[in-house]
Amino acid sequence: MSEQTIEIIKQIRHQHPGNLMARHFDEHLYRQFDAAKRQRFDQMIASGIENRDSQMGIYAMQPGDYDDFAEMIDPMIRDFHAIKGEIRQQHDWDTTAKICDLGAIDPRLKDVSMRVRVARNVANFPLPGAMSRNERVEFENQAVAAFDQLIANPTFGGSYLSITPGSAHEISAQEYERRVAAHQMFKDMSADKYLNVAGISADWPHGRGMYVSSDQDFLVWVGEEDHLRIMAMQHGGNLNALFARLHDGLEVLSQLLPAFATSPAYGNVTSCPTNLGAGMRASLHLQLPKLAADMDNLKQQAKQLGLAVRGAGGEHSGAGAGGLVDISPSARLGVTEMQIMQRLYDGTAQLWAMENR
Ligand code: ARG
Repeated sequence: MSEQTIEIIKQIRHQHPGNLMARHFDEHLYRQFDAAKRQRFDQMIASGIENRDSQMGIYAMQPGDYDDFAEMIDPMIRDFHAIKGEIRQQHDWDTTAKICDLGAIDPRLKDVSMRVRVARNVANFPLPGAMSRNERVEFENQAVAAFDQLIANPTFGGSYLSITPGSAHEISAQEYERRVAAHQMFKDMSADKYLNVAGISADWPHGRGMYVSSDQDFLVWVGEEDHLRIMAMQHGGNLNALFARLHDGLEVLSQLLPAFATSPAYGNVTSCPTNLGAGMRASLHLQLPKLAADMDNLKQQAKQLGLAVRGAGGEHSGAGAGGLVDISPSARLGVTEMQIMQRLYDGTAQLWAMENR
């Protein structure tokens, strides 16, 4: 099996040079792994082998994988995040230091859909790709115990909605669809070819659900690509308030949960190496009818500004009505939370100027 794996990876390297797992796979290191370690590694790269068009092509299965396989993975991580020197993730949540009010760019940006989320995994469970069905449900129960306390909190009180069959918090299929349509709940993961091969979507929908605050602006996904995706969603233009909302909720919630998995170099440990570091994705939905008429060109221009552009329907979707697109800073690792907020603000100002030129 191993010899075959090595041959296939060599083929992928030629046919799909964008697959970073294949690009940096080190045959020599792999041969030094004992049988158990090879088996672990084979599971991590299964998605990138089966899905040759992968950009990253590797997922961590255990919180310690970034340490245990550091030599092999570090070059892949560096390539994706374009980091050459020492990597030491820093954090900065001082949301009052710089005012980032989109309304100051243009009053028309006072009421946009804003969202910021962070990925977190607890250290005492395997990562989602390696969890058994029992572990998924057990983790959900631990999260529910935390939410039971959060419900009593005056600013973060709300409810937990589970899609685990038979859960005491189970919602109907219609309620689930309604929450997906409202962009609150995550989509059926078993439709994602990358997650399927990685085992991350296994046992769907067991162990999955979401917490939502009564004012609907603080949400926590349970059992998606990471154990937890914690987010703040608001309509407005005040990025400082949005980020402060997330940070406050994160502080309260982390007191109620087992310790999160972190690494000195990579910061927050995530299933996918593309999300390491701040583990944060901050985005706006903007109508850019002129620029979005040529999505490829828009993506190119946004890239120069450190931004990624998606359609309004999420990863791999096209522009929506009136040129509605989702823009977010691309950098995750080696940048602080506040640098991400600032990049989103500055990049939006630049794109807005180009659109209205
Ligand atoms: N595994 C996929 C790839 O390597 C997805 C990468 C980024 N997306 C994500 N949701 N983590 O192309």
